[in-house]
Amino acid sequence: NETYEFVVVANRLPVDEVVAADGSRSWARSPGGLVSALQPIVRGHGGAWVGWTGQPGDAPEPFDSDGMHLHPVGLSADDVDRYYEGQSNGTIWPLFHDAVEQPTHRRPWRQAYEAVNRRFAEAAAELAAPGGTVWVHDYQLMLVPAMLRERRPDLRIGFFLHIPFPPVELFMQLPRRAELLRGLLGADLVGFQRPLAAQNFLQLTGRLLGLDPQEDHVVHDGRTVTARAFPISIDVDEVEKLASDPGVQAEARRMRKELGGDRRLLLGVDRLDYTKGIEQRLEAYGELLADGTVSNDDVVLVQVATPSRMRVQEYQELRARVEREVGRINGEFGAVGQVPVHYLFQSMNREELVALYLAADVMVITPLRDGMNLVAKEYVAAREDDRGALVLSEFAGAAAELETAFLVNPHDVEDIKRALVDALNADPAEQAGRMRPMRAQVRGHDIDRWAQDFLGALAD
Ligand code: UDP
Ligand code: G6P
Repeated sequence: NETYEFVVVANRLPVDEVVAADGSRSWARSPGGLVSALQPIVRGHGGAWVGWTGQPGDAPEPFDSDGMHLHPVGLSADDVDRYYEGQSNGTIWPLFHDAVEQPTHRRPWRQAYEAVNRRFAEAAAELAAPGGTVWVHDYQLMLVPAMLRERRPDLRIGFFLHIPFPPVELFMQLPRRAELLRGLLGADLVGFQRPLAAQNFLQLTGRLLGLDPQEDHVVHDGRTVTARAFPISIDVDEVEKLASDPGVQAEARRMRKELGGDRRLLLGVDRLDYTKGIEQRLEAYGELLADGTVSNDDVVLVQVATPSRMRVQEYQELRARVEREVGRINGEFGAVGQVPVHYLFQSMNREELVALYLAADVMVITPLRDGMNLVAKEYVAAREDDRGALVLSEFAGAAAELETAFLVNPHDVEDIKRALVDALNADPAEQAGRMRPMRAQVRGHDIDRWAQDFLGALAD
């Protein structure tokens, strides 16, 4: 069996198996920021990627794709229900996002989480070359580092958490919280989006395991485990290339014309997730229309809401609420042939997204909590014309780097309204003055630099 010097382990493979109505199967790009970020890195390393296909059932045979070796892990329908939709997305996801939705705790979910984590660890143990590097990703696989170390003490093991790490008091609510912490401590290096997250993690090792954490590391089982922030980023070259493509630029002009030449375009792009603050955004926009600050004749909002985790009840309920609100706003403030909200419950490809970024006057990103938010960085990278404005939640990791955005508290509808008005009123000089430093920041800290920083620290 062939082995690999560099192995990435994530719940999802970069491609998602799609089953059509007639039962035929094909592959599409997987949703979410993790895949956007990791794909160029694994490709660059010619590495292997262990992950799930997105469909229940037996794993297909490993295959090579786009310069990567893809090694599928099979999840049964019960695994999908308990490990993925249950423990990962019904317990850990809401809890790690400040419990903006109530986390559910179920024993069978935890058992499935442990069993599935073991299968990922076994797959990685078989695939990694002697002394190789394995990089485990995200909240679905927090037990994998320790399980992998038990099988393969020769490996260098890194872990990166793409989502926020909760405050100590929230983490303490998790049943079997010490096990999760021990799982992560199997890594040599544990990376987070923000310094505060690393501090919370280290503090917990003292509180729950009686260890003696230092500023950026802790000694566990005679090994040093380092915990630090590595804010993730985007493939700037890819976005810039698309943004300067004449076809994409023509598409941006076509979209603007289609939406009504003189109307200013507000844009939202999110997975349909309750962490993204889509309802707060709509509420603010609806109030601006109601009080006459803006009108259907001079503005339009395009909201891309990509389908996500649709079998989880909270996501179905969110969809119903969002669609009701979009209908209400369009019904109250629309006219024949012209509505204030264009709502797209669809997944967009890269060309369409960058065309939307180029067309948008104001990008509106209002998550209640978000590990990073790559859409914010993509918008900035696409605007080589120095135009456009970014409204950005203070509770997105990206706000720490994009300081000249119109920053908002998404829990405060008045504040979102204020930021939208300020962004709409910004003249070209102000737009450029805010956009330039943000673009310099993103270009200087792209995804390659992120991977180099992390892997460099792991190798030390
Ligand atoms: N994205 C996409 N098509 C869509 C919506 C989003 O390709 O219809 C991409 C987007 O360009 C970004 C990623 O999905 O790279 C979303 O990452 P982000 O960090 O903003 O949010 P996440 O979905 O990971 O919570
Ligand atoms: C976020 C998570 C990723 C996840 C993605 C899409 O970015 O951090 O781990 O892959 O959302 O969610 P999904 O449940 O469809 O994989």
